[in-house]
Parts: sequence; structure tokens; C-alpha cells
Amino acid sequence: MRRKIVAGNWKMNTLLQDGKDLAEAVKKKAGQGLPENVTLILAPPFTHLAGIKQILPDNIGLAAQNCASENSGAFTGEVSAAMVASTGAEYVIIGHSERRLYNKETDAELNKKLKLALSAGLSPIFCCGENLHEREKGIHSEVVRKQIELGLADISEEEFKNIIIAYEPVWAIGTGQTATPDQAQDMHRFIRIQLEGMYGSKTAGDTTILYGGSCNPSNAGVLFANSDVDGGLIGGASLKADDFLAIANSF
Ligand code: PGA
Repeated sequence: MRRKIVAGNWKMNTLLQDGKDLAEAVKKKAGQGLPENVTLILAPPFTHLAGIKQILPDNIGLAAQNCASENSGAFTGEVSAAMVASTGAEYVIIGHSERRLYNKETDAELNKKLKLALSAGLSPIFCCGENLHEREKGIHSEVVRKQIELGLADISEEEFKNIIIAYEPVWAIGTGQTATPDQAQDMHRFIRIQLEGMYGSKTAGDTTILYGGSCNPSNAGVLFANSDVDGGLIGGASLKADDFLAIANSF
């Protein structure tokens, strides 16, 4: 049975103490019980990782929002995958659309990041998704197919088993406009079929594919009810412990 995951991408929000308070609140609420087979992951800013690791119980995962595409050296301001792992984080988000857009991250660079993250022992949460223009032109499947194919180039089946996929239509991120349950299911199915071609049906069937984009307590239930939607990557709604846990409880 594949794992269900609800991951909170805090983006560039919360000062250190606010982040610690939020992690404490999530821990407390999660301690009251979660649906079976659901894992929570928190992705705070880099500066909070080591401190929040001290707060979280073993059953709540910790993720960075990015890592460098180089191992070490003269790359001022960068944080390597191994550094992320050294904080105790187990996951790293790679290829979020905001980084693809604002930081001009290319498929080739994301492929390097994925490989470095895997060799540091991290589980990458690899994001893909089309923008509004691409959806309106009807080329959304092709765009996502290419992101997956190029992003995962030369990653073996054994390595891939550590990767979580997040489908995040860019037009739904932070806009309040969610993909319909059918749009989400169709794309998740499409991604799983593509993974089948790359890694076989067993591995594709075991892959957790998250939906992201304006997911909140009122729409999570209908999104997660789809057979290929295995949870969510949550932005805005992950900044409130009540909302984040309500989403996790809507399976
Ligand atoms: P949102 O962000 O939930 O605020 O739309 C999702 C994401 O960017 O991961």
C-alpha cells in the first residue's frame, strides 16, 4: 500500500520562534490522532530546520524547500543536500514552480539536485505542473511529461523508490483556484502511467503522488478521494495548525 502524505510548504513565512510555535502546535494536534497510513511532513525555511527537528516526534517528517545543485564549495548563499540531511531533515522539495520561475531552475539543474539529494540520503518531493497558458493551450500533459522525463533522467528504479511526486498546477498555487477533482485525478493518472513506462507498474503503483495548489480543509476531502491522489503539498493552509491537521484528517 502506498503512503499517504500531507506536507506543509511554509515558503518564506514565519520567524524562527513563530516556526517553532507552529511545529509545536502541529505536534500537539497530530498527537490527538491521524488517519491510518498518513504521514505529516513540515517544510520550514532552512534557518528553522535544526531547531524544529528538536521539536518534532519521529513520526512527523522534516523537509527543506530546496537544496543546491552542487556538492560544496564557492557557492555563496547556497545550502547543499548533505547540509540539509545534517540537520536531521529526511526530505527536500525540489523543482517547486516558484523556484522554476523566479530562480530560473532548469530541468537539467533539477536533475542534478535530485541526484545530490538522493546521495545525501534524502527523499525528494519532486514538483511538476503546468502554468495557466499551457493549460489553456491544452499542452498541460505534454509539459508535465517533459518535466518528469528530464527531471528523472538517469535515476534508477532503486533510487526512484525514494522520490515523492507533487503535481502542482501553477494556476492553482496561492490563487484560491483549485484543480477540480477530475483535473487532479486525470493528471495524477497520467503521471503514474508515465512512471510505469519508466520504472514498471509495481514501482509506479507504490509511488506517492501529491496534489498541490489552494488545497484547504474544505476541498481536501474531494481531492484525496481520487484513487491516484495520495495526499497534498500544502502552502497557505499549512501555516495554521488547525487547517493543516483538518486537511490531514480529511482522508
Ligand atoms: P498553496 O501552495 O497551497 O498556497 O496554493 C501550494 C504550494 O505551492 O506548494
